[in-house]
Amino acid sequence: MTTATDIETALRAVVDPELGADVVELGMVRGIDLDAGVATIRLALTIASCPLRAQIEGDVVRKVAALPDIETVEVRVTAMSPEERSALMGVARRKAREQAGDTMVSPSTRVIAVGSGKGGVGKSSLSVNLAVALAAAGHRVGLLDADIWGFSIPRMLGATGARLEAGPDRKIVPLEVGGVQMVSTGLLLDDEDRALMWRGLMLSKALEQFLRDVAWDPALDYLVLDLPPGTGDVQMALARLLPQAELVVVTTPQKAAQKVAMRVADMARRSYLPVVAVIENMSGFTTEEGRHYALFGEGGGRALADELGVPLLARVPLDPFVVEGGDGGHPVVAAHPEAPSARAILAAAARLQELIPPAAAETCTARVELLVQQLAKREGRAEG
Ligand SMILES: Nc1ncnc2c1ncn2[C@@H]1O[C@H](COP(=O)(O)OP(=O)(O)OP(=O)(O)O)[C@@H](O)[C@H]1O
Ligand SMILES: [Mg+2]
Repeated sequence: MTTATDIETALRAVVDPELGADVVELGMVRGIDLDAGVATIRLALTIASCPLRAQIEGDVVRKVAALPDIETVEVRVTAMSPEERSALMGVARRKAREQAGDTMVSPSTRVIAVGSGKGGVGKSSLSVNLAVALAAAGHRVGLLDADIWGFSIPRMLGATGARLEAGPDRKIVPLEVGGVQMVSTGLLLDDEDRALMWRGLMLSKALEQFLRDVAWDPALDYLVLDLPPGTGDVQMALARLLPQAELVVVTTPQKAAQKVAMRVADMARRSYLPVVAVIENMSGFTTEEGRHYALFGEGGGRALADELGVPLLARVPLDPFVVEGGDGGHPVVAAHPEAPSARAILAAAARLQELIPPAAAETCTARVELLVQQLAKREGRAEG
Protein backbone atom coordinates (compact mmCIF):
# COMPACT_ATOMS: atom_id res chain seq x y z
CA MET A 1 0.00 0.00 0.00
CA THR A 2 1.23 3.46 -0.90
CA THR A 3 1.53 5.84 2.05
CA ALA A 4 1.89 9.60 2.30
CA THR A 5 5.59 8.99 3.00
CA ASP A 6 5.92 7.09 -0.29
CA ILE A 7 4.28 10.02 -2.05
CA GLU A 8 6.69 12.42 -0.43
CA THR A 9 9.60 10.25 -1.58
CA ALA A 10 8.22 10.24 -5.12
CA LEU A 11 7.87 14.02 -4.98
CA ARG A 12 11.56 14.31 -4.23
CA ALA A 13 12.02 13.44 -7.89
CA VAL A 14 10.13 16.56 -8.97
CA VAL A 15 12.76 19.20 -9.48
CA ASP A 16 12.04 22.85 -9.93
CA PRO A 17 14.08 23.21 -13.10
CA GLU A 18 15.41 26.66 -12.38
CA LEU A 19 15.94 26.42 -8.67
CA GLY A 20 17.68 23.09 -9.10
CA ALA A 21 16.18 21.53 -5.99
CA ASP A 22 13.24 19.22 -5.46
CA VAL A 23 9.83 20.49 -4.42
CA VAL A 24 9.96 18.77 -1.01
CA GLU A 25 13.32 20.26 -0.18
CA LEU A 26 12.14 23.68 -1.32
CA GLY A 27 9.20 23.49 1.05
CA MET A 28 6.70 23.68 -1.79
CA VAL A 29 4.74 20.63 -0.67
CA ARG A 30 2.24 21.87 1.87
CA GLY A 31 0.17 18.77 2.34
CA ILE A 32 -0.41 15.25 1.12
CA ASP A 33 -3.79 13.60 1.56
CA LEU A 34 -4.54 10.09 0.57
CA ASP A 35 -8.08 8.79 0.49
CA ALA A 36 -9.25 5.64 -1.31
CA GLY A 37 -6.77 5.94 -4.17
CA VAL A 38 -7.15 9.70 -4.52
CA ALA A 39 -3.98 11.60 -3.73
CA THR A 40 -4.34 15.33 -3.12
CA ILE A 41 -1.14 17.30 -3.15
CA ARG A 42 -1.10 20.89 -1.93
CA LEU A 43 1.67 22.76 -3.65
CA ALA A 44 2.87 26.28 -2.95
CA LEU A 45 4.59 27.83 -5.94
CA THR A 46 6.75 30.93 -5.86
CA ILE A 47 4.09 32.85 -7.73
CA ALA A 48 0.74 31.48 -8.91
CA SER A 49 1.33 32.62 -12.50
CA CYS A 50 4.69 30.91 -12.65
CA PRO A 51 5.33 29.86 -16.26
CA LEU A 52 6.76 26.62 -14.95
CA ARG A 53 3.53 25.83 -13.15
CA ALA A 54 2.22 23.46 -15.82
CA GLN A 55 5.50 21.61 -15.96
CA ILE A 56 5.80 21.20 -12.19
CA GLU A 57 2.15 20.19 -11.87
CA GLY A 58 2.52 17.69 -14.71
CA ASP A 59 5.62 16.18 -13.12
CA VAL A 60 3.88 15.87 -9.76
CA VAL A 61 0.92 14.10 -11.33
CA ARG A 62 3.07 11.69 -13.35
CA LYS A 63 5.33 10.78 -10.47
CA VAL A 64 2.56 10.21 -7.96
CA ALA A 65 0.29 8.43 -10.44
CA ALA A 66 3.10 5.93 -11.05
CA LEU A 67 2.83 4.66 -7.46
CA PRO A 68 0.79 1.52 -6.79
CA ASP A 69 -2.91 1.93 -5.90
CA ILE A 70 -3.11 5.59 -6.88
CA GLU A 71 -6.14 6.18 -9.10
CA THR A 72 -6.32 9.96 -9.22
CA VAL A 73 -3.91 12.75 -8.43
CA GLU A 74 -5.19 16.20 -7.62
CA VAL A 75 -2.88 19.16 -7.33
CA ARG A 76 -3.99 22.27 -5.46
CA VAL A 77 -1.74 25.21 -6.13
CA THR A 78 -1.29 28.26 -3.95
CA ALA A 79 1.25 31.07 -4.08
CA MET A 80 3.91 31.71 -1.46
CA SER A 81 4.04 34.82 0.66
CA PRO A 82 7.04 37.12 0.12
CA GLU A 83 8.60 35.80 3.35
CA GLU A 84 8.19 32.22 2.15
CA ARG A 85 9.72 33.16 -1.16
CA SER A 86 12.84 34.58 0.38
CA ALA A 87 13.21 31.50 2.61
CA LEU A 88 12.93 29.39 -0.52
CA MET A 89 15.53 31.41 -2.36
CA GLY A 90 17.83 30.79 0.60
CA VAL A 91 17.41 27.03 0.19
CA ALA A 92 17.88 27.32 -3.57
CA ARG A 93 21.09 29.33 -3.20
CA ARG A 94 22.55 26.90 -0.67
CA LYS A 95 21.56 24.04 -2.92
CA ALA A 96 23.24 25.66 -5.92
CA ARG A 97 26.47 25.97 -3.93
CA GLU A 98 26.29 22.35 -2.73
CA GLN A 99 25.50 20.95 -6.14
CA ALA A 100 28.18 22.74 -8.09
CA GLY A 101 30.32 20.05 -9.65
CA ASP A 102 27.85 17.24 -9.02
CA THR A 103 26.76 16.83 -12.61
CA MET A 104 27.25 19.20 -15.49
CA VAL A 105 23.70 18.71 -16.74
CA SER A 106 21.62 21.80 -16.09
CA PRO A 107 18.57 21.22 -13.88
CA SER A 108 16.49 22.83 -16.61
CA THR A 109 17.48 20.15 -19.15
CA ARG A 110 14.79 17.54 -19.68
CA VAL A 111 16.33 14.07 -19.51
CA ILE A 112 14.81 11.27 -21.58
CA ALA A 113 16.30 7.83 -21.03
CA VAL A 114 15.46 5.23 -23.66
CA GLY A 115 15.44 1.75 -22.17
CA SER A 116 14.06 -1.76 -22.38
CA GLY A 117 14.76 -5.03 -20.66
CA LYS A 118 15.69 -6.84 -23.81
CA GLY A 119 18.58 -6.36 -26.17
CA GLY A 120 18.17 -5.57 -29.82
CA VAL A 121 14.68 -4.07 -29.72
CA GLY A 122 15.83 -0.77 -31.22
CA LYS A 123 16.73 1.43 -28.24
CA SER A 124 19.77 2.89 -29.94
CA SER A 125 18.05 3.39 -33.30
CA LEU A 126 15.20 5.19 -31.55
CA SER A 127 17.48 7.26 -29.29
CA VAL A 128 19.38 8.58 -32.28
CA ASN A 129 16.30 9.28 -34.35
CA LEU A 130 14.37 10.88 -31.48
CA ALA A 131 17.38 13.10 -30.71
CA VAL A 132 17.72 14.14 -34.35
CA ALA A 133 13.96 14.75 -34.57
CA LEU A 134 13.94 16.92 -31.42
CA ALA A 135 16.89 18.90 -32.76
CA ALA A 136 15.16 19.35 -36.11
CA ALA A 137 12.18 20.75 -34.20
CA GLY A 138 14.46 23.55 -33.03
CA HIS A 139 15.60 22.30 -29.63
CA ARG A 140 19.12 22.05 -28.28
CA VAL A 141 19.68 18.35 -27.83
CA GLY A 142 22.35 16.23 -26.21
CA LEU A 143 22.72 12.50 -26.82
CA LEU A 144 24.55 10.33 -24.33
CA ASP A 145 25.43 6.79 -25.32
CA ALA A 146 25.07 5.19 -21.88
CA ASP A 147 25.78 1.77 -23.35
CA ILE A 148 29.38 1.90 -22.20
CA TRP A 149 30.59 -1.35 -23.76
CA GLY A 150 27.97 -1.95 -26.39
CA PHE A 151 28.10 1.58 -27.82
CA SER A 152 26.50 2.00 -31.20
CA ILE A 153 25.66 5.71 -31.42
CA PRO A 154 28.85 6.83 -33.21
CA ARG A 155 28.18 4.43 -36.08
CA MET A 156 24.52 5.41 -36.25
CA LEU A 157 25.46 9.09 -36.53
CA GLY A 158 28.30 8.46 -38.96
CA ALA A 159 30.97 9.55 -36.49
CA THR A 160 33.05 6.41 -36.03
CA GLY A 161 36.40 8.04 -36.81
CA ALA A 162 35.81 11.06 -34.61
CA ARG A 163 37.39 11.58 -31.20
CA LEU A 164 36.25 13.61 -28.23
CA GLU A 165 38.54 16.31 -26.98
CA ALA A 166 38.93 18.01 -23.65
CA GLY A 167 38.24 21.72 -23.34
CA PRO A 168 40.37 24.25 -21.43
CA ASP A 169 38.78 23.19 -18.14
CA ARG A 170 39.71 19.57 -18.93
CA LYS A 171 36.09 18.65 -19.37
CA ILE A 172 35.17 16.50 -22.36
CA VAL A 173 33.49 18.47 -25.14
CA PRO A 174 30.57 16.67 -26.85
CA LEU A 175 30.80 16.09 -30.58
CA GLU A 176 28.39 18.17 -32.64
CA VAL A 177 26.93 15.79 -35.22
CA GLY A 178 23.59 15.61 -37.00
CA GLY A 179 22.49 18.66 -35.04
CA VAL A 180 22.97 16.97 -31.67
CA GLN A 181 25.73 17.09 -29.06
CA MET A 182 26.89 13.52 -28.67
CA VAL A 183 29.11 11.66 -26.22
CA SER A 184 30.01 7.96 -26.37
CA THR A 185 32.79 5.72 -25.09
CA GLY A 186 33.16 4.77 -28.75
CA LEU A 187 34.77 8.18 -29.25
CA LEU A 188 37.27 7.68 -26.42
CA LEU A 189 38.50 4.15 -26.58
CA ASP A 190 41.47 4.19 -28.94
CA ASP A 191 43.28 6.43 -26.51
CA GLU A 192 45.22 4.02 -24.27
CA ASP A 193 45.03 6.03 -21.08
CA ARG A 194 41.39 6.66 -21.51
CA ALA A 195 40.69 3.04 -22.33
CA LEU A 196 42.47 2.05 -19.14
CA MET A 197 40.53 4.60 -17.22
CA TRP A 198 37.22 3.19 -18.39
CA ARG A 199 38.09 -0.48 -18.15
CA GLY A 200 36.84 -2.17 -15.04
CA LEU A 201 34.68 0.75 -14.18
CA MET A 202 31.29 -0.13 -12.91
CA LEU A 203 28.65 0.92 -15.37
CA SER A 204 27.05 3.26 -12.87
CA LYS A 205 30.43 4.91 -12.24
CA ALA A 206 30.99 5.37 -15.95
CA LEU A 207 27.63 7.08 -16.23
CA GLU A 208 28.53 9.31 -13.32
CA GLN A 209 31.73 10.31 -15.09
CA PHE A 210 29.90 11.11 -18.27
CA LEU A 211 27.55 13.37 -16.38
CA ARG A 212 30.28 15.04 -14.34
CA ASP A 213 33.24 15.25 -16.70
CA VAL A 214 31.47 16.32 -19.87
CA ALA A 215 30.95 20.01 -20.54
CA TRP A 216 27.24 19.64 -21.31
CA ASP A 217 25.75 22.73 -22.87
CA PRO A 218 23.89 24.46 -20.01
CA ALA A 219 21.22 25.53 -22.49
CA LEU A 220 20.30 21.98 -23.55
CA ASP A 221 16.55 21.52 -23.80
CA TYR A 222 16.78 17.75 -23.94
CA LEU A 223 19.36 15.14 -23.09
CA VAL A 224 18.54 11.75 -24.61
CA LEU A 225 20.21 8.72 -23.04
CA ASP A 226 20.58 5.45 -24.87
CA LEU A 227 20.57 2.88 -22.06
CA PRO A 228 22.27 -0.52 -22.22
CA PRO A 229 19.94 -3.54 -22.28
CA GLY A 230 18.62 -4.99 -19.05
CA THR A 231 20.67 -3.29 -16.38
CA GLY A 232 19.45 -2.09 -13.04
CA ASP A 233 22.72 -0.38 -12.16
CA VAL A 234 22.59 2.32 -14.72
CA GLN A 235 18.95 3.12 -14.11
CA MET A 236 19.45 3.39 -10.38
CA ALA A 237 22.48 5.62 -10.86
CA LEU A 238 20.52 7.71 -13.31
CA ALA A 239 17.67 8.32 -10.89
CA ARG A 240 20.17 9.36 -8.23
CA LEU A 241 22.31 11.58 -10.46
CA LEU A 242 19.61 13.17 -12.58
CA PRO A 243 16.37 13.29 -10.62
CA GLN A 244 14.64 14.89 -13.60
CA ALA A 245 15.23 11.79 -15.77
CA GLU A 246 12.24 9.99 -17.25
CA LEU A 247 12.10 6.69 -19.02
CA VAL A 248 10.76 5.88 -22.47
CA VAL A 249 10.36 2.11 -22.71
CA VAL A 250 10.90 0.44 -26.06
CA THR A 251 9.23 -2.88 -26.73
CA THR A 252 8.44 -5.11 -29.67
CA PRO A 253 4.89 -6.26 -30.40
CA GLN A 254 5.83 -9.63 -28.97
CA LYS A 255 4.46 -10.73 -25.62
CA ALA A 256 7.82 -12.04 -24.34
CA ALA A 257 9.56 -8.73 -24.95
CA GLN A 258 6.73 -7.04 -23.16
CA LYS A 259 7.32 -9.11 -20.03
CA VAL A 260 10.95 -8.04 -19.88
CA ALA A 261 10.04 -4.44 -20.49
CA MET A 262 7.52 -4.73 -17.67
CA ARG A 263 10.32 -5.78 -15.35
CA VAL A 264 12.36 -2.73 -16.32
CA ALA A 265 9.42 -0.49 -15.71
CA ASP A 266 8.96 -2.07 -12.28
CA MET A 267 12.54 -1.43 -11.38
CA ALA A 268 12.26 2.09 -12.70
CA ARG A 269 9.34 2.65 -10.41
CA ARG A 270 11.21 1.43 -7.40
CA SER A 271 14.03 3.83 -8.12
CA TYR A 272 11.52 6.63 -8.79
CA LEU A 273 12.56 6.94 -12.38
CA PRO A 274 9.15 7.48 -13.88
CA VAL A 275 8.08 5.88 -17.13
CA VAL A 276 6.74 8.59 -19.37
CA ALA A 277 5.74 6.58 -22.44
CA VAL A 278 6.09 3.41 -24.47
CA ILE A 279 7.23 3.09 -28.07
CA GLU A 280 6.57 -0.12 -29.94
CA ASN A 281 9.25 -0.92 -32.48
CA MET A 282 9.43 -3.53 -35.24
CA SER A 283 5.64 -3.39 -35.52
CA GLY A 284 5.21 -5.53 -38.58
CA PHE A 285 6.21 -4.99 -42.15
CA THR A 286 4.13 -3.51 -44.95
CA THR A 287 5.03 -4.34 -48.54
CA GLU A 288 4.89 -1.79 -51.34
CA GLU A 289 1.63 -3.41 -52.39
CA GLY A 290 0.26 -2.62 -48.93
CA ARG A 291 0.26 -6.15 -47.54
CA HIS A 292 0.94 -6.13 -43.81
CA TYR A 293 2.86 -8.87 -42.04
CA ALA A 294 2.86 -8.90 -38.23
CA LEU A 295 6.26 -10.57 -38.09
CA PHE A 296 6.77 -10.24 -34.35
CA GLY A 297 3.17 -10.59 -33.27
CA GLU A 298 0.83 -7.80 -32.32
CA GLY A 299 -0.36 -5.75 -29.39
CA GLY A 300 2.71 -5.83 -27.12
CA GLY A 301 3.16 -2.06 -27.05
CA ARG A 302 -0.49 -1.29 -26.41
CA ALA A 303 -0.68 -3.87 -23.63
CA LEU A 304 2.44 -2.55 -21.92
CA ALA A 305 1.34 1.09 -22.21
CA ASP A 306 -2.07 0.26 -20.74
CA GLU A 307 -0.48 -1.74 -17.96
CA LEU A 308 1.78 1.19 -17.10
CA GLY A 309 -0.92 3.79 -17.60
CA VAL A 310 1.23 5.80 -20.00
CA PRO A 311 0.71 6.71 -23.64
CA LEU A 312 1.90 4.55 -26.52
CA LEU A 313 3.79 7.16 -28.53
CA ALA A 314 4.11 5.25 -31.76
CA ARG A 315 4.30 1.90 -33.47
CA VAL A 316 7.37 1.99 -35.63
CA PRO A 317 7.23 -0.54 -38.45
CA LEU A 318 10.14 -2.68 -39.62
CA ASP A 319 11.85 -0.75 -42.34
CA PRO A 320 15.09 -1.42 -44.23
CA PHE A 321 15.74 2.36 -44.13
CA VAL A 322 16.20 2.12 -40.35
CA VAL A 323 18.94 -0.50 -40.75
CA GLU A 324 20.53 1.30 -43.68
CA GLY A 325 20.40 4.64 -41.87
CA GLY A 326 21.91 3.09 -38.75
CA ASP A 327 24.72 1.34 -40.57
CA GLY A 328 25.44 4.26 -42.86
CA GLY A 329 25.24 7.00 -40.26
CA HIS A 330 22.20 8.70 -41.79
CA PRO A 331 19.30 8.55 -39.31
CA VAL A 332 16.09 7.70 -41.13
CA VAL A 333 14.17 10.74 -39.81
CA ALA A 334 16.65 13.00 -41.62
CA ALA A 335 17.51 10.84 -44.64
CA HIS A 336 14.00 9.54 -45.46
CA PRO A 337 11.49 11.59 -43.48
CA GLU A 338 8.67 10.24 -45.68
CA ALA A 339 9.37 6.58 -44.85
CA PRO A 340 6.68 5.00 -42.63
CA SER A 341 9.24 4.33 -39.88
CA ALA A 342 10.46 7.94 -39.96
CA ARG A 343 6.92 9.30 -39.86
CA ALA A 344 6.15 7.16 -36.81
CA ILE A 345 9.32 8.30 -35.02
CA LEU A 346 8.69 11.96 -35.89
CA ALA A 347 5.17 11.62 -34.49
CA ALA A 348 6.60 10.05 -31.34
CA ALA A 349 9.05 12.95 -30.96
CA ALA A 350 6.22 15.45 -31.40
CA ARG A 351 4.16 13.80 -28.67
CA LEU A 352 7.17 13.59 -26.42
CA GLN A 353 7.57 17.37 -26.69
CA GLU A 354 3.98 17.78 -25.56
CA LEU A 355 4.40 15.35 -22.68
CA ILE A 356 7.72 16.77 -21.53
CA PRO A 357 7.85 20.32 -22.80
CA PRO A 358 11.22 22.03 -22.54
CA ALA A 359 11.56 24.28 -19.51
CA ALA A 360 9.89 27.60 -20.25
CA ALA A 361 12.29 30.19 -21.57
CA GLU A 362 10.62 32.83 -19.49
CA THR A 363 11.34 31.71 -15.98
CA CYS A 364 10.06 32.54 -12.53
CA THR A 365 13.39 32.82 -10.81
CA ALA A 366 14.17 36.13 -12.43
CA ARG A 367 10.90 37.43 -11.07
CA VAL A 368 11.47 35.83 -7.71
CA GLU A 369 14.93 37.40 -7.54
CA LEU A 370 13.34 40.74 -8.33
CA LEU A 371 10.79 40.24 -5.59
CA VAL A 372 13.48 39.22 -3.13
CA GLN A 373 15.48 42.34 -4.01
CA GLN A 374 12.45 44.56 -3.61
CA LEU A 375 11.73 42.90 -0.32
CA ALA A 376 15.30 43.46 0.83
CA LYS A 377 15.08 47.12 -0.18
CA ARG A 378 11.84 47.54 1.68
CA GLU A 379 13.36 45.88 4.75
CA GLY A 380 16.39 48.13 4.37
CA ARG A 381 14.15 51.19 4.31
CA ALA A 382 12.23 49.93 7.32
CA GLU A 383 15.47 49.53 9.24
CA GLY A 384 17.03 52.77 8.05
N1 LIG B 1 12.10 -0.32 -37.09
C1 LIG B 1 13.15 -1.05 -37.49
N2 LIG B 1 13.15 -1.64 -38.72
C2 LIG B 1 14.19 -2.37 -39.13
N3 LIG B 1 15.29 -2.60 -38.42
C3 LIG B 1 15.35 -2.06 -37.19
C4 LIG B 1 14.30 -1.26 -36.67
N4 LIG B 1 14.67 -0.84 -35.42
C5 LIG B 1 15.89 -1.36 -35.21
N5 LIG B 1 16.32 -2.09 -36.25
C6 LIG B 1 17.59 -2.84 -36.41
O1 LIG B 1 17.66 -3.77 -35.36
C7 LIG B 1 18.98 -3.87 -34.87
C8 LIG B 1 19.01 -3.58 -33.38
O2 LIG B 1 18.65 -2.22 -33.17
P1 LIG B 1 19.34 -1.33 -32.06
O3 LIG B 1 20.81 -1.51 -32.05
O4 LIG B 1 18.79 0.02 -32.19
O5 LIG B 1 18.72 -2.05 -30.77
P2 LIG B 1 19.14 -1.91 -29.24
O6 LIG B 1 17.91 -2.17 -28.45
O7 LIG B 1 19.83 -0.63 -29.01
O8 LIG B 1 20.17 -3.08 -29.09
P3 LIG B 1 21.16 -3.37 -27.85
O9 LIG B 1 20.32 -3.96 -26.80
O10 LIG B 1 22.18 -4.29 -28.40
O11 LIG B 1 21.73 -2.05 -27.44
C9 LIG B 1 19.82 -2.90 -35.68
O12 LIG B 1 20.44 -3.61 -36.73
C10 LIG B 1 18.81 -1.93 -36.24
O13 LIG B 1 19.20 -1.37 -37.47
MG1 LIG C 1 21.70 -0.23 -28.14
